[in-house]
Amino acid sequence: MCKNLKPVHRFEIGFKTLYNTIYLERTSGITVNNNQVITTIKERSSARAYSPEQLTQEELNTVLNAGLMAPTGMNKQEIHFTVVKGDNPVLSELDEEKRRLRSQEKQPHNFYYEAPVLILLSAEEGFRWSQVDAGIAVENMALAAQSLGLGNLVIGCIYDALHGEKKDYFSKAFQIPEGYSFQIALAVGHKTDHKTPHEYDFDKQVTIL
Ligand SMILES: Cc1cc2nc3c(=O)[nH]c(=O)nc-3n(C[C@H](O)[C@H](O)[C@H](O)COP(=O)(O)O)c2cc1C
Repeated sequence: MCKNLKPVHRFEIGFKTLYNTIYLERTSGITVNNNQVITTIKERSSARAYSPEQLTQEELNTVLNAGLMAPTGMNKQEIHFTVVKGDNPVLSELDEEKRRLRSQEKQPHNFYYEAPVLILLSAEEGFRWSQVDAGIAVENMALAAQSLGLGNLVIGCIYDALHGEKKDYFSKAFQIPEGYSFQIALAVGHKTDHKTPHEYDFDKQVTIL
């Protein structure tokens, strides 16, 4: 039927179909052709309770490689990934420093909710896209973890503690490369909570011209 239409009309119909499909997907939860990536994106949700079960080496490598495969500005690949086991005593010091800076009492959970592993993403200081690149990499890893059935949590609350007066101490302890600084972290593990994905307002946040 489309064959008799001018290309511009075919484009319009194609665009409207795509728009309606995405809109339907977002408002009704209908999955676009059972697309695995879309399903993983839809199902990802922050996990704030973990069992002590460790990740397998394969799971950890899969998550790390997802971060390494993320695009970076000018393909600079300036993100460094530091894997820290949840029982590393420096994490307790970091938790304490975070609470000190925020004048917080001891919380029922540490900042990574006792996840068995925390991945710190640091990036070259002074590069225009470092923060953006770290954000893209961390989401790639979050989605990889989600697709493996692992809970995960993006963590930024330690930023000030890792950039404050103890920056050199923590940078050394976590072996953050010279000239790099912390950007964002991801906790990963087997989740024991079941939070539903956050809600959002498509019409408020999207403009289609
Ligand atoms: C840049 C960034 C920093 C975040 N930092 C923290 C954090 O320090 N602690 C925490 O519990 N959650 C943190 N989150 C998770 C958000 O609170 C969470 O993504 C948001 O509430 C939406 O929920 P959802 O992830 O389940 O969709 C962070 C998320 C982002 C993107």
